[in-house]
Amino acid sequence: MIIIKSEREIALMREAGYILSDMFEELAKHVKPGVSTLELDAIAAKFAKDRGASMAELGYQGYPASICASINDTILHGIPSKKEVLKDGDIISLDIVVRKNGYCADACRTYMVGEVSSRAKAIVEAAESAFYAGLKFLKPGNRLGDVQHAIGMHARSKGYFVPRDYTGHGIGRDMHEDPYIPNYGNPGTGIRLRPGMTLAIEPMLLEFSEKTYVTEDGWTVKSSLGGLTSHYENTLAITEDGYEILTIRKEKEA
Ligand code: MF3
Ligand code: CO
Repeated sequence: MIIIKSEREIALMREAGYILSDMFEELAKHVKPGVSTLELDAIAAKFAKDRGASMAELGYQGYPASICASINDTILHGIPSKKEVLKDGDIISLDIVVRKNGYCADACRTYMVGEVSSRAKAIVEAAESAFYAGLKFLKPGNRLGDVQHAIGMHARSKGYFVPRDYTGHGIGRDMHEDPYIPNYGNPGTGIRLRPGMTLAIEPMLLEFSEKTYVTEDGWTVKSSLGGLTSHYENTLAITEDGYEILTIRKEKEA
């Protein structure tokens, strides 16, 4: 069941989303060679606490950390660790859900550590541009499949693959609500978009193949063929004439 949100609820999600937007700016200053993913986890958790917000991933289905920090061939749900230290040339996605006044905002950025290869830059840029390719179709009356198709085709046109088993999703009081939003689909299919829907759209890209596997920790999702991966996500609300991104401060939008 898709839960349509009121203006008041969207305002609360925007409040959570802007905290998350500011948190990413803070984290960007700390993403450097020599920093551990556990240090980034602590910085994020403190940032939320200082603003009266909580980290919704902590304890979600038993998840043991405040953020997901996924390096290079890890596409999703990397568990922060003091043993995992960033090095020059890495790319790291930070996938974070903040909750404030009962409402969630979910977003992900992939950061480049120091000097990275042009190959790494290309996959990072492609995840972000796939997101914006999808947004062109995000308006009332369009079908969700139109958005999914645009994301999938964009990824493919750049030579990347998208996972089959991990998707974007509705979001609100719960981190994951209906509808589920795969990064592929067929135009003219799926639900019709309506004002008040709140969605997390999140292109995840892999080199070489769509195949992934979960490691023995039960969380970490890696590329089976070991190539690079990237991930870009924002929470959005469908408006009367299009959409609003709730996890980028309006004055900062490209
Ligand atoms: N933030 C992820 C998403 O984009 C979900 C993380 S699952 C968790 O949907 F267990 F780590 F919280
Ligand atoms: Co998400």
